Amino acid sequence: MGVRGLKRTSTQDPVWRDEFSAQSATERYVTRRQFSKFLVLTSLGMFVGNLWILVRSWFAAKPSFTPQPVSTAAEIPVGGVKLFSYPTPDDPCILIRRSTDTFVAYSQKCTHLSCAVYYAREQNRLECPCHEGYFSIEDGSVLQGPPPRPLPRVTLKREGNDILATGVEI
Ligand code: FES
Repeated sequence: MGVRGLKRTSTQDPVWRDEFSAQSATERYVTRRQFSKFLVLTSLGMFVGNLWILVRSWFAAKPSFTPQPVSTAAEIPVGGVKLFSYPTPDDPCILIRRSTDTFVAYSQKCTHLSCAVYYAREQNRLECPCHEGYFSIEDGSVLQGPPPRPLPRVTLKREGNDILATGVEI
């Protein structure tokens, strides 16, 4: 029991606490109702955010590819390659002539860290020199190494002697 102006013992609150209106013991106290409100609002915000991402992906424009001549058949011998860019100048690709009538093309960017892949003729596969990632020449699938995905395949169309890129299958 303190009387203003009198000295208190060390186990009692100091005199200034009686005159100070803030109650420090309860100021950090969060009620169950406040906490529930916080959880509900946070969950609602996350739900709306995810819904927005979903709706945007539904209505996002699909990439359109315009056919583009990339080579002539006579340009590449059997087992030979030609480098080109498709669909933009920033998308390097590699065209390989597997036989007289068979051409395949893939993105030249390794799906690991985007190093340029090359055609290893003796092994008949595409190889990435950075971390020894190997890809199948048949379908671009990963044969070995750290690449997480197959190489995107460039679809081709032959018109007479011309070889056209018509799209990219990821
Ligand atoms: S960048 Fe091709 S394997 Fe790592």
